Amino acid sequence: MPDSNVPLNIAQRPRRLRRNPSIRSMVQETKLSVDDFIYPLFVMEGENHQEEITSMPGCYRRTLDLLLAEIAECYELGIKAIALFPVVPEEKKDDQGTESYNPQGLAQRSVAAIKKATPEIMIITDVALDPFTTHGHDGVMNEEGVILNDETVAILAKMAVSQAAVGSDMVAPSDMMDGRVGAIRQALDANGYEHVGILAYSAKYASAYYGPFREALGSAPKSGDKKTYQMDPANSREALREIELDIAEGADMVMVKPALAYLDIIHLVKANCNVPVAAYNVSGEYSMIRAAGKMGWIDEKKIILETLLSMKRAGADLILTYFAKEVALMLK
Ligand code: PBG
Repeated sequence: MPDSNVPLNIAQRPRRLRRNPSIRSMVQETKLSVDDFIYPLFVMEGENHQEEITSMPGCYRRTLDLLLAEIAECYELGIKAIALFPVVPEEKKDDQGTESYNPQGLAQRSVAAIKKATPEIMIITDVALDPFTTHGHDGVMNEEGVILNDETVAILAKMAVSQAAVGSDMVAPSDMMDGRVGAIRQALDANGYEHVGILAYSAKYASAYYGPFREALGSAPKSGDKKTYQMDPANSREALREIELDIAEGADMVMVKPALAYLDIIHLVKANCNVPVAAYNVSGEYSMIRAAGKMGWIDEKKIILETLLSMKRAGADLILTYFAKEVALMLK
């Protein structure tokens, strides 16, 4: 039996740096800031109307007039960027997603109006066909159900140019077709939009965490899944290959998506490239926290902050999150 009267001789006492809030704040390695956030927002046709998304409490589909007010408020809170997603009416969808590059489409009209109302905020527009196709896939599909790569890339390039033309600051291809970043870069440059950036969804996984987003947009694929273009959740080295290709093709920033179940990928990507790394805290991650919070099973606010902090600690420079506004308010 050790003699309990012998004083311990412990040279290193890490608890000294945890004694009070001041010292803890001084040695805090990672801090969340409103500068980190990109706020994804949904826009729909109509006027003076908003609908809460059932599986995403606290998130809304809004008509453009209401969205403009919301964006102005977010900019006041310090949010520097939004990612815009249009709810496309069924009658505007077709098998080629042609509405995606309509100069008068909902996304295009919205970008122009946001630029006018809140010119300082960065507008990031999504480049992918799934909200615009009747079948709900991110690309053009043949009779056998194969998603055609090069045919799709040609449409995506047109879509990106149509977004740049109305004032989009950055286009964000989320489709996972091969070669799309390069094609979009060339098309933007050829049309005089060399200042418009590309945020590439580079390591985008075929994930079940996108379920609530697909409800929000009514964009779930009618048949099959997205496994022939989105990545296998089992793979990490493949993420590095996608990142490398997108940067070589001209991506200004790269993204890992989803975030929470992919913190290892965020870390790996950060260590292996020198462009800013974004992480998408996707709809399913949002809904899980909201649901458990509603049940009273977790301390929702603390869980939100801890979750976003973990993404930043893993290496994310930027976080796309539906919690952006709420956290901006908390950090104030
Ligand atoms: C469309 C797109 C998706 C998301 C962003 N862009 C869905 C998908 O690929 O099926 C998901 C975002 C989220 O779940 O929050 N290509």
